[in-house]
Amino acid sequence: MSRALITGVAGFLGSTLTEALLREGWDVVGIDAFTDNYPSRRKRENLVSALEHDRFRLEEVDLRSAPIEPYLKGATHVVHLAALPGVRSSWGESFAAYTEHNVLATQRLLEALRGSGVERTVIASSSSVYGTPTRFPTPEDEPPRPLSPYGVTKLSAEALLGAYRVRDGLSAVALRYFTVYGPRQRPDMGFHVFFEAARSGSPVTIYGDGEQTRDFTFVDDAVRATMSAMTRATPEVTYNVGGGHRVTLNDVLQRMERVVGKPIRRRHVAPSAGDPRDTSADITRARRDLGYAPGTDLGDGLERQWAWQRDQ
Ligand code: UGA
Repeated sequence: MSRALITGVAGFLGSTLTEALLREGWDVVGIDAFTDNYPSRRKRENLVSALEHDRFRLEEVDLRSAPIEPYLKGATHVVHLAALPGVRSSWGESFAAYTEHNVLATQRLLEALRGSGVERTVIASSSSVYGTPTRFPTPEDEPPRPLSPYGVTKLSAEALLGAYRVRDGLSAVALRYFTVYGPRQRPDMGFHVFFEAARSGSPVTIYGDGEQTRDFTFVDDAVRATMSAMTRATPEVTYNVGGGHRVTLNDVLQRMERVVGKPIRRRHVAPSAGDPRDTSADITRARRDLGYAPGTDLGDGLERQWAWQRDQ
């Protein structure tokens, strides 16, 4: 019997992963602190379907301070998605919260894993660890040079994982997700903001000229990669999880206009500090070891996100 402990279970990726695991017969214990980075009402909505399942249990736990060992009892796998996300908001005073949620909480979880019997741990890292890489697409061995405090916390979490692997012999993997989108996307993320603006007719704010590129990853692809990382033997510690299509923001907006059937007004402002100009995942490693192949193209993915958002 496989039982997964998912941290950040009420989030975009956590709730989608949980539903996929439940469909495949897993037992899932989900923990979430329901932090106020966005309304907890939305997070609870993400869990409506999981909560109908008798193989799912939700625990409200703050990894920064609560004892974690009780929740690891009987768990065979851990996926650590809980974090304070968002690149642009991690400057200034908010960095204290970022370090607590992304570094301290990760360290406490890793400490609790010692002797727990958990077979495999997967933690969420981010494309933002790369900053301005020298190679596109970017392989995992590119020296990381994050441009934002958020990216620094994600890199620290990876480094902690490395240290605990050495000390405790943890079987653990870090996944560097590249700008994930789709149904349940966080309300502060680009696609969500743009679709909301399209709906209300208000202009979107574009940081810079809109020619920045992202390797947008559809949530179901990110979930599939995560499930493979949970179950497959992996010779490496870090894996890029990208969508296989690197596009400009301007191109995305044009596609969104076709999806919603009306123009989206734009207001350009200065580029935002900490935002990488371009991201592009070299997914050779994930293809080889995780059997990962992104299966949703951007057009379909945008339709799926819009269908979800329109019904909200
Ligand atoms: C996203 C997530 O927010 C991070 O948590 C995650 O770690 C990161 O992906 C990652 O891949 O590592 P980001 O790429 O900034 O970060 O994702 P979006 O918020 O969707 O932004 C995409 C692009 O749209 C960026 O260039 C951003 O500057 C731009 N954008 C976003 C705007 O021009 N205007 C907006 O209102 C929002």
